[in-house]
Amino acid sequence: TRENKAVFTFFGASGDLAKRKLYPSLFKLYQKGYLKEHFGVIGTSRAKWSDEKFQGIVSDSIKGISETEKGQAAKFASHFYYIAHDVTDKAHYAALNDLINQLNKQYEAQGNRLFYFSMAPAFFSVIALNLKSEGLITDEGYNRLVIEKPFGRDYDTAKQLNDALTASFEEDQIYRIDHYLGKEMIQNIEALRFGNTIIESLWNNRYIDNIQVTLSEKLGVEERASYYDTSGALRDMVQNHILQIVSQLAMEQPVAFTDADVRVEKVKALRSMRVYSPSAAATNLVRGQYDAGENSNAYRDEDGVPADSATETFVAGKLLFDNYRWSGVPFYIRTGKKLADKFTRIDVVFKKPLIDIFAFPQNPNASLSENVLTIYVEPNSGFALRVNAKSTGQGFETEPINLDFFQDADKEKEVPEPYERLLHDALEGNSTNFASWSEVAYAWKFVDAIRKLWDIEVPRFPNYIPGSMGPAASDELLQRDGRSWVYKL
Ligand code: BG6
Repeated sequence: TRENKAVFTFFGASGDLAKRKLYPSLFKLYQKGYLKEHFGVIGTSRAKWSDEKFQGIVSDSIKGISETEKGQAAKFASHFYYIAHDVTDKAHYAALNDLINQLNKQYEAQGNRLFYFSMAPAFFSVIALNLKSEGLITDEGYNRLVIEKPFGRDYDTAKQLNDALTASFEEDQIYRIDHYLGKEMIQNIEALRFGNTIIESLWNNRYIDNIQVTLSEKLGVEERASYYDTSGALRDMVQNHILQIVSQLAMEQPVAFTDADVRVEKVKALRSMRVYSPSAAATNLVRGQYDAGENSNAYRDEDGVPADSATETFVAGKLLFDNYRWSGVPFYIRTGKKLADKFTRIDVVFKKPLIDIFAFPQNPNASLSENVLTIYVEPNSGFALRVNAKSTGQGFETEPINLDFFQDADKEKEVPEPYERLLHDALEGNSTNFASWSEVAYAWKFVDAIRKLWDIEVPRFPNYIPGSMGPAASDELLQRDGRSWVYKL
């Protein structure tokens, strides 16, 4: 392990994400030796906290540790400093800069500055501009910006935000977080595809019939209704997580597994994804909103949601790529709140053999299943390959069997949290698992085209019950093509 040296500045230090994910993840990096002595962390927000108060909050955010680890956590927390900060007041940046300089000296952090924006997105632009104009971006070490979602709410606002960021930071200094890219099995897509002849050689429209991506959630919107109602599932999950996953599934082989090479291919994939006209969006996309369940509210009755909200809590869609590899192969996607279970999986459905020699008049019940490669992303990590084999015994019948691999529970526990991994990547200057501007831009263009229809057409909501896999129209989307979801209830 190599020690990283930097002064971190967290904007939004009192926020929920910082407490739930960022501080605990930094602590993990500390425990593993990626951070040792040479780092300082500044938290800023409007709250008027002391350093001690902040350090207490940081310590409390680290859960489930032993007594000895508590000592370690206290030492770790001693690297944290707090400064109350009004991000719109230029004068405050001088004080922040002084503190960064002081910590840089004190911890010998080599002038490396890592800024992290994890707060109301309305302030992202102004902070970036002020960091530059008030001289907080220096030539001494590196300057990096890690930025949370949402990255805009459509192409235009994303472009405005990006223009503001790139007025202060270069593209290669900007790390746009998509925490799905920090998940072990999402990263495994590349290993599986490009590390295996038997998989990559079949990875095209000659052998693949369709690909299905499911990000299913059991919870509703919980306490986030005020944000969620302005977003909806299309912006919240499809624009970022799902399209990132899809671009990794669809991309061509990168020249090498480096961030620059991978980005080129992901962008190319997203560029060849078909952008729908409103009428094509009407046939290829399905939206849903959850109704009341036995012990749960309908979305429209959740606190903070208007009684006539047209926000979708479910999306299913059929994506098409106009390129040589994928022409004719639909990528079906779906995601939603209050579905049957919390899981993420990818099912790659192969074509059946062109001729089924087992089906002949004397053998009327014969029927081969499609080969399916399932990538289990969460909660368990694993793969399964469904193949047809002879049923054991007299006679000759075939049956599908599964060749599978699941990570064992102990190993699973060692898997780093997405935020731990991504923070470490940012410290190492590796942006493979962050979204580049072009990827974000193409993803918004796809989403904006759908919103053009959805923003004017009034949906018939609510249309699915909690605990289901969404509205009936989601199943019909595949049935129309003579297909069905591999995962069904
Ligand atoms: C976030 C969305 O990006 O991802 C949430 O804003 C969603 O609405 C979450 O619940 C799901 O992430 P995970 O890692 O729990 O699957």
